[in-house]
This record gives sequence, structure tokens and C-alpha cells, in this order.
Amino acid sequence: MNILQINSSIFSGAGQSSGLADQFVARLRARNPGARLTVRDLAADPVPHLDATRFGAFLAKPEDRTPTQQVVVAYSDALIDELKRADVVVLGLPLYNFGLPSTLKAYFDHVGRAGVTFKYTDKGPVGLLTGKKVYVFAARGGFYAGTPNDSQTPYIRSFLSFIGMSDIEFVYAEGLAVSEASKQQGIARARVEVERLAGAVREPEFAVA
Ligand SMILES: Cc1cc2nc3c(=O)[nH]c(=O)nc-3n(C[C@H](O)[C@H](O)[C@H](O)COP(=O)(O)O)c2cc1C
Repeated sequence: MNILQINSSIFSGAGQSSGLADQFVARLRARNPGARLTVRDLAADPVPHLDATRFGAFLAKPEDRTPTQQVVVAYSDALIDELKRADVVVLGLPLYNFGLPSTLKAYFDHVGRAGVTFKYTDKGPVGLLTGKKVYVFAARGGFYAGTPNDSQTPYIRSFLSFIGMSDIEFVYAEGLAVSEASKQQGIARARVEVERLAGAVREPEFAVA
């Protein structure tokens, strides 16, 4: 089993979302000692913003790409290959200014590639990164889950499903900025949910190959 953990907190591994992701990964690895873990820290190793030059490199025919464009495409290809190799994707997802971290958006902009991670067909777009399970650990200062103000859950579902990753579970740690008591309660509840989720994982799904 290959696990890809993507941390998108500006605090890297010290973020609350990263901590919950760590807890979940630790439980998976305890049950699957042969599992291979790759950690992508988007704060320590940020993906550049997508701009017209980079997008132009994606669109250029392989044989026409300049050396600079080849470097851009190779970088995106490497991010996509890392995702392709993953059986399980674990995402630490903070809420910043009512949205996802800009580093995560930049990452998505480099892995959402027509003809590579999705394709257009007569019947509409089809995602190509199928057969993966995704676990999202969301940390928020306030309370949003289950309300129309939760911009992240539908967005993450839409984007990941678009590239073929539609099997997604969310765990929320909320109220982290309301008071110390609220923070402790939000984290404690989320940690219980992490344990429940890790315990509910179907064994064959995580059998070591
Ligand atoms: C720059 C910044 C913006 C934030 N914006 C929001 C927000 O819009 N709504 C909210 O409920 N919490 C907000 N928060 C609180 C974070 O969601 C909370 O601290 C959470 O723990 C962040 O996840 P992390 O610890 O993994 O980085 C913000 C925090 C920071 C640092």
C-alpha cells in the first residue's frame, strides 16, 4: 500500500490539520507495517502559482516544447505520478479566509491536466486517477461543516472527483479559534472520529501487496 499524505497548513507538520492526518496515517501504518508513506508538505515545498507561461507549457505539443516548457511539464508530471502511485491519499486541510490554502490550489492547478488526469469525451469529462481512497482532515477556527458556509467540502469533492478520486471521507476539527475549551473539544472530537475512521477501514483495502 502506498500512502500519500499532503499537508497544506502554513505551519507544516505543526498545523492542527497535519496533526490529525498524522494520527490517521500512524493508525494505518500500525496495521500495515509494509505500507510506504510519502509526505508532501506544501508549505515547506510550495508549488508555484499557475500562470500563462506554465499553462502554455501544458498545452504545447510534446515535440514542440522548449527546454523551459519541458521542465515545467516534468515538474507537473512528477506531482501527478506521485498521486498515481498512491492507493490512499490523506489530506490535511486548514480553512484560511473562508477557503483552501493557496498552496493547495496551486498544487491542484498542477495536477488537473486535460489528457493526463482527466479527459473530455462525448459523454462529458472523465477522471483518470481512479481506484483511490481519500481522507481529508479539515481544521477550522469556526463552525462550518454541514452549513452553506462550508466552501471547502463541495469544492474538494468536485475537484478530486473530476480527476477520478470520488471516494472521499472528511473529518472536521472545528471551533478551534472560539475559545481554548472549544479548541480542546473540537480536537478531541476529531481525534475520536479519526480513530473510528481508521478502525472502520476495510481490511482487504489495506492488505499489504
Ligand atoms: C491566515 C488564517 C486565516 C484563517 N481564516 C479562517 C477563516 O476564514 N475561518 C475560520 O473559521 N478559521 C480561520 N482561521 C483559523 C484556522 O482555520 C485554524 O487555525 C486551523 O487550525 C488552521 O489549520 P492548521 O492549524 O492545520 O493550519 C484562519 C487562520 C489563519 C492562520
